Amino acid sequence: MNLKTAEDCLNLSERMIFLKKFIEAPSQVGSLTPSSRFLANKMLECIDWNTVRALAELGAGTGIFTKYIYRLKHPDCKVAVFEKDKVMRSEIAARYSKLSYFEDVLYLTQNVKSIGIKSLDVVVSGLPFALIEESVRENIIEQVIKILKPKGIFVAFQYSLQMKPLLLKKYSQVDISFVPFNFPPAFVYVCHK
Ligand SMILES: C[S@@+](CC[C@H](N)C(=O)[O-])C[C@H]1O[C@@H](n2cnc3c(N)ncnc32)[C@H](O)[C@@H]1O
Repeated sequence: MNLKTAEDCLNLSERMIFLKKFIEAPSQVGSLTPSSRFLANKMLECIDWNTVRALAELGAGTGIFTKYIYRLKHPDCKVAVFEKDKVMRSEIAARYSKLSYFEDVLYLTQNVKSIGIKSLDVVVSGLPFALIEESVRENIIEQVIKILKPKGIFVAFQYSLQMKPLLLKKYSQVDISFVPFNFPPAFVYVCHK
C-alpha cells in the first residue's frame, strides 16, 4: 500500500494552491509549481545562520524557503516575510507564526522598519522579476540594496540570466549557479553588496 506521509500531503495541497494561484494571476505568481528542495538548498546554503540577525524573504509563495529559514535561523534572528497573495500568506503565517508577515514588497523599507529592523543581513527573493514591470523591478532592487547592511547579501532565483546586467551594476560581486532539479530549471544569483 502506498501510504503518504503528512509532509507529502502538505506538498500536494501546497502544489494545488500554487497552481490555482498561477491560473488566477500568472504574471504575479510566475511559475506553475513551488520551487524544489534542491533550489531551496542552493538558495540558502550561502547564508551564515550563526551571524544573521535580520532577514527578509520576498515572494514566499507557499513557503518552501520559509520552511527552511524557520528551521535554520538563529533564535534572535528577525524575519520579515512578504507575500502578495492573501491565501498563501495566511497559510504560511499559520504554520510559522513567529515570523512577521507583509503583503507587498513595494513597501519593503517601510514594513521592515515598522518591526524595528534598521538594516538587513540577507534578502532572499522568489520574486518573478522577469514578469515585473521595469520601473517596479528597479524600485524593489533599489530598496533592497539600500536596506542591506554593508556586507549584506541578496539571494534570488530566476529562470533566465536576464537580471545579470542589472545586478552586476549594483553589487560588488555576483555569483551565479544553475539548479537543474527544479521545474523549470533555475539560476541562483548570490549578490554581495
Ligand atoms: C515564483 S513564485 C515563488 C514562490 C516561492 N518562493 C517558491 O520558490 O516556491 C513568486 C511569488 O512572489 C509573489 N509576489 C509577486 N509579486 C509580489 C509583490 N510585489 N509582493 C509580494 N509578493 C509578490 C507571488 O504571489 C508568488 O507567490
